[in-house]
Amino acid sequence: MKNDELTSTVLPETTPSTTKKEDATTRLWQGVVKRRSFLKGLGVAGAAVSAGALLTSESEGQSSTSLTKGDVAILQFLSAAEIIESDLWLQYTELGGTQDSEESGVNGGSPLYMQALQILDGDMPQYIHDNTDDEISHFEFINAYLISKGADPVNLDQFRTLPSSKATGARDLGRLTNLMNLTVDTSFWTRYRIGNENPDLDPTFVFPQADTIVNRTAIPRTDDDLVGPAKIAPHNIPDHLKAIAFTAGFHFAFIEQGGTSLYPSLAQRVRNVEVLRILLSIGPTETAHFQTWHDKAGNALALTDVDPVTGASVTFKNLITNQPESLQSNLIMPEPTDFLSHKFPACSIIRPTRTKGAAMGAARALTADGLFIGQSSDFFTALHALAQAADAAVRGF
Ligand SMILES: [Fe+2]
Ligand SMILES: [Fe+2]
Repeated sequence: MKNDELTSTVLPETTPSTTKKEDATTRLWQGVVKRRSFLKGLGVAGAAVSAGALLTSESEGQSSTSLTKGDVAILQFLSAAEIIESDLWLQYTELGGTQDSEESGVNGGSPLYMQALQILDGDMPQYIHDNTDDEISHFEFINAYLISKGADPVNLDQFRTLPSSKATGARDLGRLTNLMNLTVDTSFWTRYRIGNENPDLDPTFVFPQADTIVNRTAIPRTDDDLVGPAKIAPHNIPDHLKAIAFTAGFHFAFIEQGGTSLYPSLAQRVRNVEVLRILLSIGPTETAHFQTWHDKAGNALALTDVDPVTGASVTFKNLITNQPESLQSNLIMPEPTDFLSHKFPACSIIRPTRTKGAAMGAARALTADGLFIGQSSDFFTALHALAQAADAAVRGF
């Protein structure tokens, strides 16, 4: 067996920990093991592959050495990213998504929040519901695939410690992510509209923000967020709640453009062709999400709101009319830009796609977004350990 092949000792289950970092990592993997046992015992409820198939695959030992450590690490980081996505999307679904039996636990939602979201597009609740389903399917598939190859899936349940919204419609559960203090990086807006700058070739270029969204909630925190004056139409929806919905609209696009870059970035270091197929098949669904949200966010109305709880102010522009090309809302097709080298003709591409440090870059971007405000240091240690392992993967050995 080559030393780069997966062995049962790659991810120690009971290694004694001597440092804080090791403590968190060990606990994460202990959680992984629990989840794995859970899957074995209960037939992989909801997973994309039947328990029988998984257990057969494992018991026959066909694939326990078929993936490199690097491929496993990439899949495990992506599983963690998908679990994080699922957690935040479920919070959006509970309050703003279509309420139906396909989504377990939804309870009527927040009808006025849904109405505010529908300023962006009448189908927003359905899109939120379906994006949620997609993310859950992503992590369940990746975890099931890891198990089928004799590798450990990822479980972040021990970090579901953040509070839920107290607004009517939200369940009272521990969460992985915090949607109530977001700083949304909207530079993706100009990055996909400016044709002569590519973050991979010109990493110091600063793409301007579409709107500046700092320390704002993207969901109603309590039912108090559902009331207030409505100076602009529609007058049945408070301007404060409109601003919350528009924050969500830009946040949806921010999250999904991250996935849009992450998959091709990591795919460049995958070794196994089937794992490559997984990344090349899931990644473009992130792009489908991004393109949808990118289109809808541009329908935000011009308004300013000062949050009555935090004092944080936000101003949304009308991006539909009288804007330069770098902001114009209907310019959602990726503008051709320089790719690989300035010597080539411009090409319409996903950007960035540099592979070096891509996983840690994603972890940093989600952290800067405010998603993990309130999380424990153990959470960050575990997330960074997963990212570092994925970034250490090298294609071709
Ligand atoms: Fe996803
Ligand atoms: Fe996604």
